[in-house]
Amino acid sequence: QRPLRRLLSCPGTVAAGLRREEQSSGSAETGSEDRTPKKRFSEVQNERREQAQRTVLIHCPDKINEKKFLKFLSQHGPINSHFFYESFGLYAAVEFCQKESVTSLQNITRTPSLGPEAAIPFKSRYLNLKLRNSLNQTSELSSIQCSNQSSPSSKKLYQLLCCAESVDDQLNTLLREFQLTEENTRLRYLTCSLIEDVAAAYFPDCAVRPFGSSVNSFGKLGCDLDMFLDLDEIGKFTAQKTSGNFLMEFQVKNVPSERVATQKILSVIGECLDQFGPGCVGVQRILNARCPLVRFSHQASGFQCDLTTNNRIALKSSELLYMYGALDSRVRALVFSVRCWARAHSLTSSIPGAWITNFSLTMMVIFFLQRRSPPILPTLDYLKTLADAEDKCIIEGHNCTFVGDLNRIKPSRNTETLELLLKEFFEYFGNFAFNKNSINIRQGREQNKPESSPLHIQNPFETSLNVSKNVSQSQLQKFVDLARESAWILHQEGKDRPSPSSNQPWGLAALLLPSVANNMSLSKKKKKPASERIKNLLDSIKSSGAENSTATNGR
Ligand code: GTP
Ligand code: MG
Repeated sequence: QRPLRRLLSCPGTVAAGLRREEQSSGSAETGSEDRTPKKRFSEVQNERREQAQRTVLIHCPDKINEKKFLKFLSQHGPINSHFFYESFGLYAAVEFCQKESVTSLQNITRTPSLGPEAAIPFKSRYLNLKLRNSLNQTSELSSIQCSNQSSPSSKKLYQLLCCAESVDDQLNTLLREFQLTEENTRLRYLTCSLIEDVAAAYFPDCAVRPFGSSVNSFGKLGCDLDMFLDLDEIGKFTAQKTSGNFLMEFQVKNVPSERVATQKILSVIGECLDQFGPGCVGVQRILNARCPLVRFSHQASGFQCDLTTNNRIALKSSELLYMYGALDSRVRALVFSVRCWARAHSLTSSIPGAWITNFSLTMMVIFFLQRRSPPILPTLDYLKTLADAEDKCIIEGHNCTFVGDLNRIKPSRNTETLELLLKEFFEYFGNFAFNKNSINIRQGREQNKPESSPLHIQNPFETSLNVSKNVSQSQLQKFVDLARESAWILHQEGKDRPSPSSNQPWGLAALLLPSVANNMSLSKKKKKPASERIKNLLDSIKSSGAENSTATNGR
């Protein structure tokens, strides 16, 4: 146990900790005690999307009187919520109670006259607030509380982790500090909604939906915004069946394949965003990729966006991860820590390449949690058996059916601590037979590798695909070495924790911080060679195996 002394030696931490506890509504601790009914993924998506449609994004002058600003806006109808944030200027996201208020506000909004330059008119919900007479207003300014949109600095994280009470507390702290805030989530849905307005100029009934880490509950502040341009509503045949022998079809242009259709659609949307999309900069059309996409920065929100279409399976994968993240409160804490650990040691990168991705790491954590005894997470096949008619989902011939109602899944009886799970995760994958086995979350057990890629993680829906096909042998080896090293550090620490007064990084801090990565290489020089230490570790684990009741079956 971390002594209270350590906690008290960090000024401001207790109060901050208490505030955070108030916010976390008691669900961040280990175990799955929280039995409040949980919403389906589709319910959350629909509610958020509708909320975003009632919201406007306003670029404000640097100094503004908040009360007067809100009074001015409420002439168009009651306001449900609002927040300010900074991103190259001051912005406000204002959610009205009714959609009509947005139209009313747009009706009194003018297109700017820019002197020698010309404006391309576009009535978006991204607006600019000007002060008629700024001098008159300076005396009435009040200070504005801005919502933070970025993750803590390494230094702050280091302090927070070192002040934590236990390794479990460290993992929960990391989760609280890095997870997407309510405001950041709203901003993500709002950005999609603003892009949808642009895309709707071409495809009136389209929807732009966030997917990936923005919605799967594993998103870190600052992560990219993956968007899916959904044209299904347009293609869907919803009209009443007509009687008689006639059938009416739309005249359309035909192209040789789905891929070509996707490329053409993204090409024009990319062009639109580039030419007319307010706030969209650095637009790149990456149409020859395996999954064609348009990449751009949305200046006002600060998000790096990847827009794809014809990518419905990825949306379904996001739903699956959301389910797993919601089933047990330990899942997200463990995934965040493993993702941060991998980033800290450059195992993952924002540049595509031969490295492991966050998506693959998440699959590995899920698999590991399925292998615990008793399991912490159910297999995908089990989730399929719980599905009802409403859950049935076939995409491009792939059966993507699984239960959507989280409340139908029984909580796990496993009570292992996060500290133990983190250590065992590193041990498990530090010793995994990657050369012959594939990771399979559908069945929750290793399978023989069907092909020779160094790392094989079966795609849960397109089961003939490997989600980590890109990973090279050397990157996998780096992962294995670091996993063993980290297991060793945690194991050593369990026996011999640095004293609270030593100010030494401990637990998760010892695994994460760059200084620690250096310490690790330093310690390599000073201590016994890694191979010998690992051998000792394995021996000590073997010898403690008998007394260790938390069997890691399937190792
Ligand atoms: P971040 O690194 O935080 O962006 O995580 P992410 O989960 O959003 O990953 P990324 O932006 O790379 O991909 C977005 C989504 O696309 C993922 O969540 C998956 O649903 C899907 N995806 C990414 N990579 C793969 C892959 O190799 N195979 C499959 N089937 N889906 C993938
Ligand atoms: Mg992403």
